[in-house]
Amino acid sequence: MEIKKVGVVGCGLMGHGIVQVAAQAGMDVVAVEAEQGFLDKGLGRIEKSVKKLAAKAVEKGKATEEQANANAAATLGRIHGSLDKADLADCDLIVEAIVEDLDVKKALFAELGGLAKPGAIFASNTSSFPVIEMAEASGRPERFVGLHFFNPVQLMRLVEVVRTEKTDDEVFAAARAFGEAVGKKPVACKDTPGFVVNRLLVPYMVQSLQMLERGDATADDIDAAMQFGCGYPMGPITLTDYVGLDTTLSILEGWVERYPNEPAFAIPECLRQKVAEGKLGRKSGEGFYKWEGDKRA
Ligand SMILES: NC(=O)c1ccc[n+]([C@@H]2O[C@H](COP(=O)([O-])OP(=O)(O)OC[C@H]3O[C@@H](n4cnc5c(N)ncnc54)[C@H](O)[C@@H]3O)[C@@H](O)[C@H]2O)c1
Repeated sequence: MEIKKVGVVGCGLMGHGIVQVAAQAGMDVVAVEAEQGFLDKGLGRIEKSVKKLAAKAVEKGKATEEQANANAAATLGRIHGSLDKADLADCDLIVEAIVEDLDVKKALFAELGGLAKPGAIFASNTSSFPVIEMAEASGRPERFVGLHFFNPVQLMRLVEVVRTEKTDDEVFAAARAFGEAVGKKPVACKDTPGFVVNRLLVPYMVQSLQMLERGDATADDIDAAMQFGCGYPMGPITLTDYVGLDTTLSILEGWVERYPNEPAFAIPECLRQKVAEGKLGRKSGEGFYKWEGDKRA
């Protein structure tokens, strides 16, 4: 089951990266957006990134300018933008990277189930919803996986390949092979909350906020402890600001709804309070710390 043509629905932060890595790997890609403005923005980001990579290849002596430019043009030439989902009909794999709203995702997959070719594989890039719910909505649960990429897709090496109890073995194997083909390290995971990375990372962030609430240590000292004691690139409270306090809260709320008795998912009061105050972390300029752009003030 070879994947030659890929469809990506949603060309935002994650979707544009998925489109790019698939095109760079030699696949034809259809990028579908809801509105022309969003499509133009996503395709513009890809063009900028592909051209930057070409310049880097020349700088490092990995290619001549002519080769790098030809390569970049070929990558961009494999991408076709569209506002029409019917253009996904002949794709071997369709990856969804739209807004994190389960009802919207289920409606999209119901529509895709009606138009994709019989052999197509469906994948969701969801961070927090059960894959099986979208799989059932598509009407083809055996041909459905989670493909959870990390931000920025062009740089982060991991992809979690999520199988539900209904995923066919050959579909799972093809999805895993796709992850490898686009230059990622695929890891297999069952359809569990947060898969591997977020199931470990989010409760760790929760613990750090609970330490802060108890007054066990200051935010700076908690972060310094994990940075200098464990060699992490940033501490858990800086990480929470980085991810976004609203995003973290919404992931936790979804889990609490489904698993109300899991103590690892207990929502810290300070997280709710900051979000209520509009302090969302780096993106709003203040969370647990103050931010100037991408740097802590
Ligand atoms: N941001 C992250 O770090 C991250 C990491 C891993 C996974 N994810 C997941 O990836 C998905 C996308 O997140 P994002 O950060 O790229 O969001 P985003 O808001 O940057 O992009 C979503 C895009 O989807 C488009 N869209 C919405 N509904 C659509 C529809 N029905 N048809 C076509 N296009 C539609 C929007 O116009 C938007 O451009 C979410 O499920 C999210 O949970 C995000």
